[in-house]
Amino acid sequence: MANNVTVESVRSIPKTVEVIGVPVGTTGAVPRQVGLSRAALTTHGFEGKVGQTLVVPSTSGATIVAVGIGDARKATVATVRRSAAALARAASRRASVATTLVDAVSLDARSAAQAVVEGFVLASYRFTDLKSGVENPAVTLSVVATGARAKGCDSGVDRGRVTAAAAWTARDLANTPPAYLTARMLADRAVAMAKESGLEVEVFDNDKLAVMGCGGLLGVNRGSTEPARMVKLTYSPAGASGHLVMVGKGITYDSGGISLKPSDASHANMKMDMSGAAAVLSAMSALKALRCRTKVTGYLMCTDNRPSGSAVAMGDVLTFRNGKTAEIHNTDAEGRLVLADGLSLGVEAKPDAMVDIATLTGACMAALGTKIAGVLGTNDAFIDQVKSSAGRADEPVWQLPLERDYRRLLDSNVADMRNIGGPYAGAITAALFLSEFTADVPWAHLDIAGPMSVDADDGWLSRGATGFGTRLLIDLALNFSKPKR
Ligand code: BES
Ligand code: MN
Ligand code: ZN
Repeated sequence: MANNVTVESVRSIPKTVEVIGVPVGTTGAVPRQVGLSRAALTTHGFEGKVGQTLVVPSTSGATIVAVGIGDARKATVATVRRSAAALARAASRRASVATTLVDAVSLDARSAAQAVVEGFVLASYRFTDLKSGVENPAVTLSVVATGARAKGCDSGVDRGRVTAAAAWTARDLANTPPAYLTARMLADRAVAMAKESGLEVEVFDNDKLAVMGCGGLLGVNRGSTEPARMVKLTYSPAGASGHLVMVGKGITYDSGGISLKPSDASHANMKMDMSGAAAVLSAMSALKALRCRTKVTGYLMCTDNRPSGSAVAMGDVLTFRNGKTAEIHNTDAEGRLVLADGLSLGVEAKPDAMVDIATLTGACMAALGTKIAGVLGTNDAFIDQVKSSAGRADEPVWQLPLERDYRRLLDSNVADMRNIGGPYAGAITAALFLSEFTADVPWAHLDIAGPMSVDADDGWLSRGATGFGTRLLIDLALNFSKPKR
């Protein structure tokens, strides 16, 4: 579904606007526009906390929504984003909304405006493609900033429009059911998006993948009636100041293969097992518009994972692009198999760093829950860049150790490694598996199995796929500096 929110940066509240979001802090004066005293607001349960809103009915003119911003002096991009999301939800189904949030916080105007747009747009997201007769109503958001803050607001709104649209697209891709988004269709979408956003794109089919020795992606694909696709995306600005590789897990549906998953709710969510590829594709589609100075090469590793007579069997051995071999002990540990080829190809591009993003392990979700992604890797300076970007995007990550001593858990009698470890530390053994394909390139791995989706609306997250990692990756590319090896 196309993004239905139009955003503009303006100097004053448009006369005909239907809803005005007026920021109110937990302390300090209540703006006159609200028309209620602090005591009256409190009586109605509104204390000005971030996430709180209070609709103040009026008999004439615009509806006023008091928008909690917490302590205005302590506002961060994360709190501003959440405040704007709460406004969007309070003003839902109204065609025009204006807010003075940007001028209410001490944060620089550009960051504040970007956060306002991201929060508002992403909270307005709904996946309606397959609901008959349901469409997201169009809405215009006017972000007001005055005086010296106007210019920053203009540029922040421009950036927010791009970053929010990217995350929106990633959600759309992940929410799309398997039959509506096969590997071929995902590759087609990537080609279309690449053309629109100024990326080079090359698509590799099974024949080409075989010649290239991508036995991981082809092995996972073997049980499917649909062919695999690898999509290589290149963003190459003139005079680039560094080169970053991004690899995304693009399992369009993960049944588990021969190691069939049970028919439970989490299995039904496995249409989202391409969320990593969606994040890479969507993030890269924003780079030109944001005038990113870093060269970025992306690899989307796309196939579904199915059981059938031709499916890869337990005990089978696959050979990857870099020549290493793995013995299959669980066909449901397929993400690492497709990423192995992607990372091997990434190394060949000789980048300054590599990041992969994947809905990789239930173990990571067990460890960190549904709000936080795991990050592991081989270079702490680069991982620190990932953490900084995660902070700015409010897409939280927590580092887990790449404990080399656990490598023995992957030992195989017949191949270089097995594709699963023991019952414990599954997120770590998965990352150790991946590290076999990163050579000496500084590398970070994001395990987004937990935060790939939410069950209910929550701030700027809307029920369903979250698009997690999209804005993190954009920020990472924009602020990338070559890490020391
Ligand atoms: N796609 C799943 C991981 C996953 C689980 C993502 C839940 C999102 C929510 C992955 O391919 C998988 O099946 N992993 C297995 C690995 C195991 C067999 C070693 C898992 O986590 O159970
Ligand atoms: Mn799996
Ligand atoms: Zn999977």
